[in-house]
Amino acid sequence: MRWWDIPSVHAIEISVFATDPWSIEQFWSELAEPTRHYFIATLDDDIVGYAGSFVLSPEADVQTIGVAKDHQGQGVGALLLTTLIEHATQAQAAQLILEVRSDNVAAIAMYQQFGFEKISSRPNYYAPDVDALIMRLRPLARTTTSGGGK
Ligand SMILES: CC(C)(COP(=O)(O)OP(=O)(O)OC[C@H]1O[C@@H](n2cnc3c(N)ncnc32)[C@H](O)[C@@H]1OP(=O)(O)O)[C@@H](O)C(=O)NCCC(=O)NCCS
Repeated sequence: MRWWDIPSVHAIEISVFATDPWSIEQFWSELAEPTRHYFIATLDDDIVGYAGSFVLSPEADVQTIGVAKDHQGQGVGALLLTTLIEHATQAQAAQLILEVRSDNVAAIAMYQQFGFEKISSRPNYYAPDVDALIMRLRPLARTTTSGGGK
């Protein structure tokens, strides 16, 4: 994602995050931060999804992921999450952490499909009976070299 992608990304953001969407300024400050890594998914030159992470090895967090409503359910979210996992792996992160609303059925299903496991929760964090779930993917696949020499 580059700065000129922000208006299109923000339009998706406000359509998929009903409560507390990020502002344009938040996306600007995320892109300005060297530890953040943002990606877009495009279809025929149109941005249909975006995702970002914080990576400071060995730590890595999923910051956000969103897919335009009319392109959901078509594998875009899985592609973006794969990209974040690959990037964190290449950056030698030991694990990938994220936070998700306990009522976000689609996102939780996607994270579980990728092997994320719930490690803790903050009860009633978002609203009464809507917890914040903390999920973790560990270990990330690592490229290893065998120590075959003498
Ligand atoms: C969560 C989100 C990013 C998923 O993106 P997507 O492109 O629709 O997801 P995909 O089509 O790649 O599906 C990947 C997996 O997610 C799960 N999933 C997606 N939509 C689902 C739904 N409506 N119900 C249940 N599971 C769902 C499935 O496990 C799916 O795998 P499958 O197709 O093999 O069954 C998308 O729904 C979204 O943008 N939601 C609003 C923003 C949001 O909640 N972001 C996450 C914040 S933590």
